[in-house]
Amino acid sequence: MELKFSTFLSLTLLFSSVLNPALSDLCNPDDKKVLLQIKKAFGDPYVLTSWKSDTDCCDWYCVTCDSTTNRINSLTIFAGQVSGQIPALVGDLPYLETLEFHKQPNLTGPIQPAIAKLKGLKSLRLSWTNLSGSVPDFLSQLKNLTFLDLSFNNLTGAIPSSLSQLPNLNALHLDRNKLTGHIPISLGQFIGNVPDLYLSHNQLSGNIPTSFAQMDFGSIDLSRNKLEGDASVIFGLNKTTQIVDLSRNLLEFNLSKVEFPTSLTSLDINHNKIYGSIPVEFTQLNFQFLNVSYNRLCGQIPVGGKLQRLRRVILFS
Ligand SMILES: *[C@@H]1O[C@H](CO)[C@@H](O)[C@H](O)[C@H]1NC(C)=O
Ligand SMILES: *[C@@H]1O[C@H](CO)[C@@H](O)[C@H](O)[C@H]1NC(C)=O
Ligand SMILES: *[C@@H]1O[C@H](CO)[C@@H](O)[C@H](O)[C@H]1NC(C)=O
Ligand SMILES: *[C@@H]1O[C@H](CO)[C@@H](O)[C@H](O)[C@H]1NC(C)=O
Ligand SMILES: *[C@@H]1O[C@H](CO)[C@@H](O)[C@H](O)[C@H]1NC(C)=O
Ligand SMILES: *[C@@H]1O[C@H](CO)[C@@H](O)[C@H](O)[C@H]1NC(C)=O
Ligand SMILES: *[C@@H]1O[C@H](CO)[C@@H](O)[C@H](O)[C@H]1NC(C)=O
Repeated sequence: MELKFSTFLSLTLLFSSVLNPALSDLCNPDDKKVLLQIKKAFGDPYVLTSWKSDTDCCDWYCVTCDSTTNRINSLTIFAGQVSGQIPALVGDLPYLETLEFHKQPNLTGPIQPAIAKLKGLKSLRLSWTNLSGSVPDFLSQLKNLTFLDLSFNNLTGAIPSSLSQLPNLNALHLDRNKLTGHIPISLGQFIGNVPDLYLSHNQLSGNIPTSFAQMDFGSIDLSRNKLEGDASVIFGLNKTTQIVDLSRNLLEFNLSKVEFPTSLTSLDINHNKIYGSIPVEFTQLNFQFLNVSYNRLCGQIPVGGKLQRLRRVILFS
């Protein structure tokens, strides 16, 4: 009697798994439910056609599952188009490590506050969209972030000083927005990794914080803002900085007094009010790119060394 019953049970299970593929899904049912709601919130866009309730969500486009837990660990929409706001439901994918919306001109509204719940996020890219509002403070709670890219949006307001609390950041892209105010002092006080820093094409004003003297940025782009005063704190003999772009600001300092790290390979300071002369040390540096044009430099262009071989050098002042 018992034997028969268990045979019946396993047969039933076998049948139902044939008839209902959901039983053999790798996909976590909670994740699947949330994804289907996200699809609905975006109005069933063409790019999410593969998101069908009768298929395994680990096989859907634009998402991946972790190979051991089978939980959704990435949601990346960079081709095709979605419209409207980022749904709060993205915060209900608790195992997400990568979240990306890229080249989505119809994606509007603020940076979704529910993203604050995604404590396991390592990479957040919301770029080339039409997101507006401020760069939210809550991003500093996502301690595992190694990559944060909010470039090419319509973000306004000041840069939150709390971003320096992200200990694992390799790159911070806030370029091509409408950010205003000063660069926070804290961006010269990152508590862990010093990220590559991209703040170009905003409306940032005031001085570059002196705290930057302590930061060894690998790459730093502050171009096309309204920054004033001295930028020599970015440089220093003990640094390993390779790429510096300060072009198209209102910077005003004596270039002869700057101590350039030997690691520097690319320097663009065009369109500022930089004075003094081109340092003789430049002949010893391995520049691949140098543009010092449209400043107030005077004196002679130093002769010799590696500067002579540089084809793309513009030493126009
Ligand atoms: C995006 O917005 C534009 C202009 O409003 C519209 O023409 C286009 O159809 C929208 N695209 C999608 C995928 O909704
Ligand atoms: C953050 O990363 C560490 C190291 O990879 C990991 O052990 C930890 O679980 C992660 N935190 C969250 C909230 O996922
Ligand atoms: C971006 O959004 C604003 C208002 O939210 C709208 O006026 C503008 O047309 C949008 N731009 C694009 C490229 O969709
Ligand atoms: C940015 O937002 C403003 C105001 O909402 C809008 O007029 C403008 O079209 C937006 N810019 C872009 C590049 O979408
Ligand atoms: C470089 O030296 C300055 C002053 O001597 C110091 O404040 C700074 O922390 C040093 N930077 C690095 C990256 O070692
Ligand atoms: C720039 O600094 C150099 C070296 O200290 C000095 O000789 C020169 O007079 C300064 N130039 C200006 C315009 O202050
Ligand atoms: C240097 O900057 C000036 C001014 O923006 C520009 O006209 C010139 O093409 C630049 N040179 C190079 C090699 O990029």
